[in-house]
Parts: sequence; structure tokens; C-alpha cells
Amino acid sequence: MLCALSFALRRYYSFHPALFLLSKPSFSSPLGLFSAFTMASSHPKDEAYLNQVIEKRIKLFQSLQSQQQSHLLSLPHDPLKVTLPDGSVKEGKKWVSTPMDIAQGISKSLAANALISSVNGVLWDMNRPLEGDCELKIFTFDSDEGRDTFWHSSAHILGQSLESIYGCKLCIGPCTTRGEGFYYDAFYGDLGLNEDHFKQIESGALKAVAEKQPFERIEVTREQALEMFSENNFKVEIINDLPADKTITVYRCGPLVDLCRGPHIPNTSFAKAFACMKASSAYWRGNKDRESLQRVYGISFPDQKRLKEYIRQIEEAKKYDHRLLGTKQELFFCHPLSPGSWFFLPHGTRIYNKLMGFIRNEYWKRGYEEVKSPNMYNMNLWETSGHAANYKENMFLFEIEKQEFGLKPMNCPGHCLMFQHRVRSYRELPLRMADFGVLHRNEASGALTGLTRVRRFQQDDAHIFCRESQVKEEVKGVLEFIDYAYTVFGFTYDLKLSTRPEKYLGDLETWNRAEAALTEALNQSGKPWQINEGDGAFYGPKIDISVSDALNRKFQCATLQLDFQLPERFKLEYSAEDEAKREKPVMIHRAILGSVERMFAILLEHYKGKWPFWLSPRQAIVCPVSEKSQQYAMQVRDWIHEAGYYVDVDMTDRKIQKKIREAQLAQYNFILVVGEEEMNTKKVSVRVRDSGDFSGMSIEDLLNHFQAETEVFH
Ligand SMILES: *[C@@H]1O[C@H](CO)[C@@H](O)[C@H](O)[C@H]1NC(C)=O
Ligand SMILES: *[C@@H]1O[C@H](CO)[C@@H](O)[C@H](O)[C@H]1NC(C)=O
Ligand SMILES: [Zn+2]
Ligand SMILES: [Zn+2]
Repeated sequence: MLCALSFALRRYYSFHPALFLLSKPSFSSPLGLFSAFTMASSHPKDEAYLNQVIEKRIKLFQSLQSQQQSHLLSLPHDPLKVTLPDGSVKEGKKWVSTPMDIAQGISKSLAANALISSVNGVLWDMNRPLEGDCELKIFTFDSDEGRDTFWHSSAHILGQSLESIYGCKLCIGPCTTRGEGFYYDAFYGDLGLNEDHFKQIESGALKAVAEKQPFERIEVTREQALEMFSENNFKVEIINDLPADKTITVYRCGPLVDLCRGPHIPNTSFAKAFACMKASSAYWRGNKDRESLQRVYGISFPDQKRLKEYIRQIEEAKKYDHRLLGTKQELFFCHPLSPGSWFFLPHGTRIYNKLMGFIRNEYWKRGYEEVKSPNMYNMNLWETSGHAANYKENMFLFEIEKQEFGLKPMNCPGHCLMFQHRVRSYRELPLRMADFGVLHRNEASGALTGLTRVRRFQQDDAHIFCRESQVKEEVKGVLEFIDYAYTVFGFTYDLKLSTRPEKYLGDLETWNRAEAALTEALNQSGKPWQINEGDGAFYGPKIDISVSDALNRKFQCATLQLDFQLPERFKLEYSAEDEAKREKPVMIHRAILGSVERMFAILLEHYKGKWPFWLSPRQAIVCPVSEKSQQYAMQVRDWIHEAGYYVDVDMTDRKIQKKIREAQLAQYNFILVVGEEEMNTKKVSVRVRDSGDFSGMSIEDLLNHFQAETEVFH
């Protein structure tokens, strides 16, 4: 996939693990509303010119393709061996046999559903000839590889439709979004796309699907590529930016010949269900000084049923949008006078503090030390840490007495200063320094979204300084911590180990030992995990944890990242057993919740606004049946309040049914009805949220019950 934007972003945020917590590129547009204001209009495209461009590309493609095909035919077709995952071996011929041939030899249904293969670990088109003995895997839509290829290929179908209808210049892409689906950025001149265009775009895409266009691949030289795309200045720019030694590939499906690394599904016929989801604005290369583009997002599936289910899930998710629920439950709001920095109202603050309290309580059990560190630092600190060089545009900077200062976007450099503060001994390690400090990151105002992309936030951040020999145990401890917390929240999660990238810092030996330690820790965690070869940050390997919520969406919240770089930059050291000997600690960045703000939003949506008792800002409400029991109701409220729970009392003179209904809507976990009988027996009639039963309970039993429900958490 030749996606310059995602490439650049990846490099950009592999700088620091904490970036994963908030600065993930949101692919929603900075000017999301823009297109909605523009009426659909027919675009005065130049049909003749467009056809000419398309024809030229196809002609060139075909002539190169036939040259390459006859070259392949001229090569010696020696026998080759294909090893399948079950160990069985198939025979084939070099430069002739394709994964599709092998699939057909296995079963008809596999061949009919196969989307993509991998040859010795490299993703490979089903119809691309094999080049030698290999290990072959075949993927269908039910695998990540199959699905990603499916969506990536669908982006070409989308591009084809966009180009043929609007004569736009296709730019960045074809890209898959990080969650589900895909998009294509293109330059449209004055035309503003919006939802009214979707039907037309979809029918253009479905036409391509009906034509069952095969995806065909050729390799081209830089000159050939430049000639092929000479009418498209964006593609020309991409081609010119490619490294000199790169093999450039071009794919064709139907009329669309596109620059792309591939690979793709065999033909367009698979994308039977296709829908546009959103149109928004974007800038060429994400740079607001460059051309304004428009981005169309799409989704596709092999059948209508899955598309319908997907759309139903999206609708469902909209109902539980945290911004909506947060307003309804009076939890938080944002004011235009401080964009991206949220106000937490009393009920929201209850939850916020409970979340931090939950983690803090675990710190007590798990040997962490909580610290506090400054919010702003002289720029010299950021020079040392590398933030000045790599992260400056994301920081808030200002001047104090002619010196440049910056608000901290992360706690790590400050923690290095704390480690450095005096001579450290090996006896103090592992040192687990936890900090809920307030962080600021300078997000563009247009990119801010709810609590998930903010300027001001806190993390349950901690840095573990340890010896290399302690890495395994520490990582195990963090994995166990994550498992504990996420089980409490009811999340499932996946673990992926990202290993040494091509460019890395530190010596190879250290990397190998660290990766071995992480592997062992993962093995011993007893959870399934996968490996992402070469996907680690340049300063250390990491474990990616992606959680799935009740609506089956994936998020990255927790961080677990080894760092060889900061200890080096800050020249951190401790004295070893031999006092004269100094050793360098390894630093582990870790967070469980990640940004508390973002986790708050995820939990609110995950629970669909129904907070579990321990986290709930409205744990109980006392509802007197009549005026006669009001005084007793106040007394019950006081008892519960004094026991440490959030409790209200409804002193209005409305009918009891009305009070109960309202309390249910407000999501009180316990509704305590008191009338004369309860007053005389010192009891309450308890109604548990979501289960309709009333049952009488003494105050003592009730408080015991409350305690049992919460004691694990604080
Ligand atoms: C498209 O791919 C499917 C599965 O590989 C195959 O059965 C079908 O014949 C292909 N159609 C065309 C027109 O190539
Ligand atoms: C981890 O488990 C895998 C699969 O069971 C095994 O191949 C590997 O050798 C183990 N690694 C370590 C370091 O224990
Ligand atoms: Zn492609
Ligand atoms: Zn850190």
C-alpha cells in the first residue's frame, strides 16, 4: 500500500509510546463539517480528457504487462515445492504456478474464498506466480490479512468510481482506516462532496464489482511510472519521493491503473456489499499549506448481511456516544474558551477519581511509588529528552524571563530527573515511579473530538527503572496488572509483541535479550499473543495491547514499552554490587488506563451509561412514598452517606411510581423506597437497577451488601 500519509505518521508517532495514547492520527477531517454545507452539484468534468488519460494509462500498462508476461514465459520453469501450514508439500512450477493453483489443488471452496496468500511471510497476490520453494499460507475474509486486503482493494474500487464520475485526481491512498474500512483522498477542484453524492459513488463501485475486474500487477521503472501518471501531479510527487532502490509496482482493475504496492484480492467480484460512510476534507500530505483534498470513507463486505450488521452496530454506537451520555448524566462539558480541555462536573469527577483510586489502590499492592512532578520545564529538558527535535509542534511553549518553557506532554523526562536526583543503588531497583500528572498536547482545534482527542489530560502513567535482568519479571507484573484491570472492566484484549525495526538504537545484544525477556513474559502470562516483526519503536521493543469493548470496537489504551534511549540521553546510572561499577537502567513506560479522559469515554460507551456500582456517581437514591416517610428517608440518606456512598434523596411530592421511573432513567444503581412499614421496621425496600424486584432489607444488610460490591476496588 503506497500510503504516504500513514507512512509519515507511523514514523512520526513511533517516537514515543505515550503518543499512542492520544495522538493517534484521527482520520476524521479537521474540517468535518465543511462538505455538509456545500450542495451537491454536477461537476463540469472534461469527459474527453478523462477518457484520454485513462486510455493512455491502460495502453502503457498493457504493453509493459505483455513484455513482462513473455519474459516470465521465457524463464526456466523448474519444479518447486510449496509447504503448507499443516506441513504437507505441494508441487508446482517456477514462474508459472500461483497460490491460486495451489488453493484449487486443496479444495474448491478454499479457492473460491481465498483473498490473499503469504509466501515466506510476505503477502502475495493469489494470481502472482511463485518464484521458488516456499511456505504458503492462504487467507480468507475471516483473517486480519484477508480483511485488510479486502478493504485495501475496495479502496481501488472506490477510487475507480470517484475518478470516473467526478474526473478527480486520485491522491493519497488507497488506504485502509485503522479500525474498519478504507478511504481515498482526491483533488476535486471546486466540487464539494457530501452525503448526497454517496448513492452515485456506490453505484459506480457496484458497477466495478459486477464487472468482476481482475487485479493485475506489473513492475515499472521510475521513468515508466512518471510517464504513466504524468497528468497527476500528486502521484508524480509520490513517485519522486520513493527511495531510488524501490521496486515500483502498478496495479490495474478495470479502467483504473493505480500506483500501489499491493497486494490485492483476485478480482473485484468479492466486494458484493459496498457503502460510503463519510466525506470530509483533508490536506495533501496532511499539510494545511498544501492543496485541499476531499476524503471519502467506505466500507465493504462479501455479503449484504454483514454490511447490514455493521451499519446496525454503528447506529447502536451512536446512541451511546460519550458526548451524548456525558451531557445527559451531567458528567462533563467543554467551553469554547478552552477548547480540548474538559470541565468535569461533580458527578464526572466522582468517576474520574474512582478510576484513579482504583489504580492507586493497585499501586499499593504492586510496589509502585506515587510521585508528583512539575507541569512546565525549561526547553533545555526537552532538548535532552529529544522532544524539542521530534515533538515540538505538539507542545505548548511560552516564555518566562526570556527563557523558553514548555508544558509537559509526557512525564518521562521529569521522572528521569527524579531518578538522577541522587546516586542510585541496584538495591533500589526496580523503582516504579507513578504519576497522575496533568499533560498537555497541542492538538489542532479542528482535530479535537470529545474526550478521546483533547489538549489536557491525565494518565495513570508510570516508569519502571530496572536492571536488564529484571525486565522479564517487571513485564510479567505489568501484564498481570493489565489483565486484572481489564477483567474488572469487562474488556477482552489482544497482545502483540513489536520487535526490532530496521533502524534502532542500542546494541543488538541488548535488543535480543530484551525481546527474549518479553517473549518469555508473554508466554508465561498464559494469554495468546502475536508478533509484529520489526514494528517496535527505534528505542525499544514494546507490547501492544488492544482492547475490545462491549460494542466490539478496538482501542489501544494500555502501553508497555521498553526504552533504551532516555536512560542514555539522561545518562542515568546506578551503582552495582561492586560499588565502583556503574550500570545503566532500562526504563519501562507503562500505563493501564492510558489517558484517564479517554478511558472515561470508552467506559461510558462500553457500559452504555450504566455504571457498575463501584464506579457509579449515582449509587443510590432514597424515595419516600409520602410525606410521612420523608424524615426517615433523610435519615437513611445520612446513614448511607456516612458509610461513604453516593446517595441522593427525592423529596419532591410526586407519585412514587414517577420517582422510581426518573431514578431509573438517571441510572441509580439502587432505588430505596421507604414508606411507613419500612420506617417502623428500620428497613428499606430495595430495587436494583435493571432487575425489577423489590425486597425488604435492613440498613445494616444493605450497607454490608454495598461494601461487598466495592471493597475489591478501594
Ligand atoms: C474472480 O475470482 C473468483 C475467485 O477467485 C473466481 O472464481 C472467478 O472466476 C473470478 N472471476 C473473474 C471474472 O476473474
Ligand atoms: C514461547 O512459546 C512459543 C510457543 O509455545 C515457543 O515456540 C517459544 O520458544 C517460547 N519462547 C520462550 C522464550 O519461552
Ligand atoms: Zn492497492
Ligand atoms: Zn513515558
